[in-house]
Amino acid sequence: MAEPISLNLELWNDSHDSTKFNSGVHAIDKYIKEQVAREVRNAMSGVVVLTVKGQRVVRGYYSLSAISLDFQDLPNKLTKTLPRYPQIPATLLGRLGVDVNFKKYLEEQEKEPPYLGEYLLNDAQVATVRAATSVGSALMLVDVLEPTSEDKANGARDPIGFYTKYGFQALHANPRRLYKSVRTIAQEQEIAKKKAKVPETSE
Ligand SMILES: CC(C)(COP(=O)(O)OP(=O)(O)OC[C@H]1O[C@@H](n2cnc3c(N)ncnc32)[C@H](O)[C@@H]1OP(=O)(O)O)[C@@H](O)C(=O)NCCC(=O)NCCS
Repeated sequence: MAEPISLNLELWNDSHDSTKFNSGVHAIDKYIKEQVAREVRNAMSGVVVLTVKGQRVVRGYYSLSAISLDFQDLPNKLTKTLPRYPQIPATLLGRLGVDVNFKKYLEEQEKEPPYLGEYLLNDAQVATVRAATSVGSALMLVDVLEPTSEDKANGARDPIGFYTKYGFQALHANPRRLYKSVRTIAQEQEIAKKKAKVPETSE
């Protein structure tokens, strides 16, 4: 039987190869092929890439940046619990993408969906909570890119439903800007840790 494929997440550097990266969304591909070096060099974003262990080819990635939001743009259920500053610090998931060909290949090899998007989003949430303990950030935000008509013609789907599945909600001021509180993410991670520690019972 073939060995399972080991995946790896690491910070992007210029030894990574994204020349053939294809998520199906042009803007997501252009970023990792052409814009990432400048973004990272200027500390505009932190970029984490998904590779196969021992390889440099980029199979998926996400980017995170610091951002702030106007207090007045936040929903009441959030502002109730926050101090009333004009601006609220947040972490923006600017880009997230999975290579469609690698996803297909892995699915064929492992005979089950690889859930690469979920894996990347989960890691981005862990990174957001960890960073927020040293540089405050109350919310995680996603500006959800709408695939162009050309992307859609090539099979791309609107990713809004992907984020809402993991608890992100739209801001009234901008329905394509989704948020999740860092407090909620941290609580979910605590619950997941506790669950992982509970031993299986044999009945
Ligand atoms: C969006 C994207 C990252 C999702 O990655 P993925 O590996 O296909 O997603 P996963 O297999 O981990 O899916 C996890 C769950 O989300 C669902 N899902 C995935 N894409 C979805 C979409 N576009 N709309 C609704 N649900 C979606 C899956 O069906 C799965 O749910 P299930 O457990 O009920 O089966 C990927 O499709 C992609 O790279 N798209 C192009 C780039 C893009 O649009 N990025 C986001 C821009 S902000």
